[in-house]
Amino acid sequence: MRIVAALFGTMLLVSLAHAAELPRAVEESDYRPANEAQSRLGQLLFYDRVLSGTFRVSCASCHNHDRASSNGFLLDPASAKDVDDLAVNGLPIYDVFKPSSRHAPTLFNLGAREFTSLFSDGRVSEKDGKITSPARNLPAGLRDVLAVQALFPAVTGDELVGSKVESDLSRASHVGDQAVWDILAARVAGLPDYLPYFRAAFEDIEVGDDIEIRHLANAISAFVATEWRSDGSPFDAFLRGRQDALTRNQKRGLALFYGQAGCDLCHSGAFQTNHGYYATASPLWRFDATLADGAGDVPQGRVTVTGARDDLFRFRVPSLRNVTLSAPYGLAGSHKSLGGFLRGHIQPASSLRSFIDQRLDGKTRPDDVAEIERRLITQNQMPSVTLGDDDVSALVEFLESLTDRSAVGGVLGKPQEVPSSLVVE
Ligand code: HEC
Ligand code: HEC
Repeated sequence: MRIVAALFGTMLLVSLAHAAELPRAVEESDYRPANEAQSRLGQLLFYDRVLSGTFRVSCASCHNHDRASSNGFLLDPASAKDVDDLAVNGLPIYDVFKPSSRHAPTLFNLGAREFTSLFSDGRVSEKDGKITSPARNLPAGLRDVLAVQALFPAVTGDELVGSKVESDLSRASHVGDQAVWDILAARVAGLPDYLPYFRAAFEDIEVGDDIEIRHLANAISAFVATEWRSDGSPFDAFLRGRQDALTRNQKRGLALFYGQAGCDLCHSGAFQTNHGYYATASPLWRFDATLADGAGDVPQGRVTVTGARDDLFRFRVPSLRNVTLSAPYGLAGSHKSLGGFLRGHIQPASSLRSFIDQRLDGKTRPDDVAEIERRLITQNQMPSVTLGDDDVSALVEFLESLTDRSAVGGVLGKPQEVPSSLVVE
């Protein structure tokens, strides 16, 4: 472990509340070994709309190649042409797929061994080789949490099934998860162009009939695990010894992050997350939400998994890799800018109040909004820190140094075409 103070000399030491430790540099052994043939197959499946009820959505609709594996919704509205292309029964995509209260997270570094819990409430997780998930019966032979995760969009009404549109999948979804998974496996098995990829990836596949949902899930997992690996940012170069990789102000932000501002209490480790769950009292609504009619559906956080009252509104600490590329910020996309989010993050109670006031536009607080606000504030675990505007901008500049431009396009990238011949987005 290196000590920040040692890197910046005694002058900064004076301004540091405590001498903070920097994480070690990311190493090859931090990642699970790759399987190239499976990743290639997974790439096709990830981009193939054949996995949706309506044949209109793929994983990439929300984890978009051109939007740093997120959807960046609203800040970067899809062009009119894209909207037409994605419209289902005349409804724009975000109506059909209910953007819910959230925007899709980026998928960077999920192949690193330490990512054993997925989703903001950790509802898919692995401990001592045992995987926990919301499904009552998981198919056998799923390799890891990413493979388990890959099964869920397919059985979630507002994701790949397309609950508002009648299809064989939406009908099967009333029978059960396995019925949906069977249909998907059969659809893919029915596309002969997939077979060579499956045979290259899995020893137990000879003919189309051998294809099962676990093969699809394991291949998607292999792809997601390797596609958005990201450890080539200026910050990584700095940790590997290149002192000049960061600007002066980024170094100041780094010293604050790992020092006085206490960000590393939660955003610690090689990927800036300790994988814990905390209540931060961040607004649970989008930046353009209207709250005068009520709070709507808000995510409850870790409590949905553990049932423990204390876990209400506790959410997993996100990795901050490439965070500059995935506006809007906060769980629900409550802030358009990183600086705006951070000012709220360090003074949560007052910022939450003013966020809600603004979203009410002079109208009275509905009871449910007032109740959620109260609970968010009583649950809050964020230490309140006083930082000046200069400090916040230094922190933003430090977060910029976590951006790895070379990782954004992915390793395999977006395929030109997929075996179903459906549009690739
Ligand atoms: C309709 C939009 C949508 C589609 C389609 C979709 N996702 Fe997601 N994905 C999300 C959202 C929103 C979350 C965050 C959910 C949460 O944390 O509760 C998420 C979370 C994830 C995560 C967990 C990330 C983390 O850090 O915990 C992975 C991995 C993922 N998706 C992969 C996929 C794959 C693979 C597919 C296709 C099989 C897919 N997604 C399809 C919206 C989508
Ligand atoms: C007590 C734990 C804790 C501390 C301390 C903390 N964070 Fe967070 N941070 C979280 C959690 C949990 C989330 C996700 C929930 C949310 O959006 O508030 C988060 C979210 C974020 C996000 C938004 C990421 C995104 O993709 O939208 C940023 C940026 C961030 N933190 C930066 C910081 C910085 C910079 C500091 C230091 C000033 C800091 N955090 C201190 C727990 C913490």
